[in-house]
Amino acid sequence: MHILILGGDGYLGWPTAMYFSGKGHDVTVVDNYFRRNACTELDCGTLFHVPSLSERAAIWQEKTGYTIQVVIGDLTDPEVMRSFFTGDVTYQWPSNGAVCAPPDTVIHYAEQPSAPYSLLNYKYANTTISNNLLVTNNLMFALKDLKPDTHVIHIGTMGEYGTPNIDIEEGWLEVEHKGRKDTFLFPRQASSIYHTSKIMDTDLMWFAVRTWKLRITNLMQGPVYGLETDESKIDSRLKTIFNYDEIFGTVVNRFITQAIVGYPLTVYGQGGQTRGYLNIKDTLQCVGKAVQTPAKQGEFRFFNQIMETFTVRELAELTCTVGRSLGYDVVIRSVENPRKEAEEHYYNPVYHGLLDIGVIPHYLTEEVMKEIFLLIAPFKDAIRKDVIFKGIKW
Ligand SMILES: NC(=O)c1ccc[n+]([C@@H]2O[C@H](COP(=O)([O-])OP(=O)(O)OC[C@H]3O[C@@H](n4cnc5c(N)ncnc54)[C@H](O)[C@@H]3O)[C@@H](O)[C@H]2O)c1
Repeated sequence: MHILILGGDGYLGWPTAMYFSGKGHDVTVVDNYFRRNACTELDCGTLFHVPSLSERAAIWQEKTGYTIQVVIGDLTDPEVMRSFFTGDVTYQWPSNGAVCAPPDTVIHYAEQPSAPYSLLNYKYANTTISNNLLVTNNLMFALKDLKPDTHVIHIGTMGEYGTPNIDIEEGWLEVEHKGRKDTFLFPRQASSIYHTSKIMDTDLMWFAVRTWKLRITNLMQGPVYGLETDESKIDSRLKTIFNYDEIFGTVVNRFITQAIVGYPLTVYGQGGQTRGYLNIKDTLQCVGKAVQTPAKQGEFRFFNQIMETFTVRELAELTCTVGRSLGYDVVIRSVENPRKEAEEHYYNPVYHGLLDIGVIPHYLTEEVMKEIFLLIAPFKDAIRKDVIFKGIKW
């Protein structure tokens, strides 16, 4: 299978590229370094230097013999998007004039993924909206015009649903109203501009499926944690980008990093915010199973991509327990919540669809968290305390 990964330089994109390449698929990655550039512009700090996409592809080939084709391009440009389906694509690496057939599957990660980034000010809000919606819309039109049987796997977010006072279904809700029934997208109520852009993505994709009978799987993912996958163990230079700052770091990764460097764990307000989480290894498994069992033509399929739920307070307590067992002096500090969000609420999402197609979860046990501590600890001297908490307000 030829798998095209949009956003293949990112936290999830690069491990996904190695995962599929290692299984013998043809893999092409495309990225415009939006994330790296944003980290530089906003002085976010990353845990370690990450080689360029072409360098990583070369290391991967040297170590495994597999080729990952690299394209550097901005997918908000419709011609860049369309070039993958017309064959006019320009490869950055390997530079041997390689030409691939159009992809069978597209995995769409190429978005601005941070809620705080989207609320820095109106300019970053605009960047988030225009970047995310243009990439998705360009993909929809490229498929409609050039290859409508391509299976798209898009990574949505559980944050689209918000924290409703009813159980969260997997994408759809059957509604009975005045004696009649119909099925609708589950109500969405995001708490940031980023999450709102993801809701709008979902609406663009639903329009495309209804109208042009495309085939799309939308994986409604929760915050991901972790650093290592089976493939990144092959060479330390293959590790994915790792952020621990307030803008691009996700909470578990941040808490572990804070514990290592002796920075109190920043629990926002009461810490009762409950979300669903998953290990980066399970992102790969979920996407892998979704590729193996594609949506049908004309189907807009949803899975809630989480493996378990925690409150922020529970995550902080777990980090404390594990950190202290490793000899770190870990403390929890409640800070005034810079976000507008419920700090205590009902939360009961359904998430058995991915298990039904064969995903076997990795849970966040003390042992698993300890392994992540041990992966981050060697970089202790590089951790910058000044980027950990900036208090970006909603
Ligand atoms: N990481 C998480 O915890 C998480 C949770 C839920 C959903 N998601 C979603 O998963 C996807 C991937 O997230 P991630 O954590 O890997 O983020 P990331 O920022 O590391 O990866 C996204 C990649 O897309 C690239 N990109 C962005 N705009 C682009 C454009 N116009 N053209 C080409 N490339 C572009 C970026 O440079 C980056 O490398 C995002 O859509 C995000 O919304 C992530």
